Amino acid sequence: MDSIRIAIVGVGNCASSLLQGIEYYRGKSEDVATGLMHWDLGGYLPSDIEVVAAFDIDARKVGKDLAEAIFAPPNCTTIFYPNMPRTGVTVQMGRVMDGFPEHMQEYPEECRFVLASEEEASREEVVRTLKESGAEMLLNYLPVGSDEAARFYAECALEAGVALINNMPVFIASDPAWAERFREKGLPIIGDDVKAQIGATITHRVLADLFRRRGVRLDRTYQLNTGGNTDFLNMLNRSRLASKRASKTEAVQSVLEEPLEDENIHIGPSDYVCWQKDNKVCFLRMEGRLFGDVPMHLDLRLSVEDSPNSAGIVIDAIRCCKLALDRGISGALISPSAYFMKHPPVQIRDDDAYRRTEEFIRGLRDE
Ligand SMILES: NC(=O)c1ccc[n+]([C@@H]2O[C@H](COP(=O)([O-])OP(=O)(O)OC[C@H]3O[C@@H](n4cnc5c(N)ncnc54)[C@H](O)[C@@H]3O)[C@@H](O)[C@H]2O)c1
Repeated sequence: MDSIRIAIVGVGNCASSLLQGIEYYRGKSEDVATGLMHWDLGGYLPSDIEVVAAFDIDARKVGKDLAEAIFAPPNCTTIFYPNMPRTGVTVQMGRVMDGFPEHMQEYPEECRFVLASEEEASREEVVRTLKESGAEMLLNYLPVGSDEAARFYAECALEAGVALINNMPVFIASDPAWAERFREKGLPIIGDDVKAQIGATITHRVLADLFRRRGVRLDRTYQLNTGGNTDFLNMLNRSRLASKRASKTEAVQSVLEEPLEDENIHIGPSDYVCWQKDNKVCFLRMEGRLFGDVPMHLDLRLSVEDSPNSAGIVIDAIRCCKLALDRGISGALISPSAYFMKHPPVQIRDDDAYRRTEEFIRGLRDE
């Protein structure tokens, strides 16, 4: 099979885990390769993915080979594949816009973004790089709240004729007008906001569905998350959070028979704890009533490394996007988006989304 040529915006922790994973699984065999949903997805292996272009705005990443940039501060995720071969891809200066949160300035440099002094890329330059690199799809890993920057890079993808995987919560794939623009251009799009492998969202959804199926009325719930990476530092600025909160809350509300009143559901990133680094801890509580209206509650604590948790999903999203390109399918990919993302164009229960995604992979459905 061909390689799958991807471009990346935002060489942060999630990109680091994805790139390490591509090398980690290279040369392994299916029987020893743990941690994947699919070893062979429609004929593509994880090692068929090749990064051909990357953009960032941090002084410690711009101008570096990608293999070096993924280990530069403030990235702090687990290094599970330290001996990354040089990629020959130099991280290019992107366009800053709202990607740089001002409040980060108050924190030590090793924990926050440091703006590079290079001249920012123009739209023409980003488009040219995408075209000349031969990229087939662009992965958006920008910080939460980068509404303007996310739309800027999405426009560049459209102009360059590359597909988009939107891993963060600016609503693009789930906005019918944007999805239609990708369809018109003959390009697939998957989004928005990755739903991690075993993260807070999928756990909360599965439990909410369990309550529903077992006839237990959910009265109140919260999901509090803490972490110490730049994603959590960024989200200390509550004004950047609206779309993340909406994405996470809707992901749970959509599983319930009747959505909870706003005052009975609280979901979101709750604090930045520097020493946690890329470890994310989720505290989840669900209060309900079972037979005879008798109350019950469930408390759960989930501890995960945040970024490999996203890469385990993105490694399949990339290959589904490639299958769509191979098959001439364009527009929002409904089933893969529902299975892989928190805020897809259409919310589908996870077991249905799983089944439909498997059918998509086998060529039995085209969305
Ligand atoms: N970890 C998960 O499981 C998970 C799940 C869902 C969504 N996400 C989302 O994925 C996104 C990426 O997460 P992360 O942990 O890798 O974040 P991160 O903070 O580690 O990385 C963001 C990167 O973007 C760069 N950047 C900022 N502005 C830019 C611009 N204008 N142009 C180019 N680069 C720019 C930063 O320098 C940094 O390298 C976040 O929005 C996060 O919320 C992550």
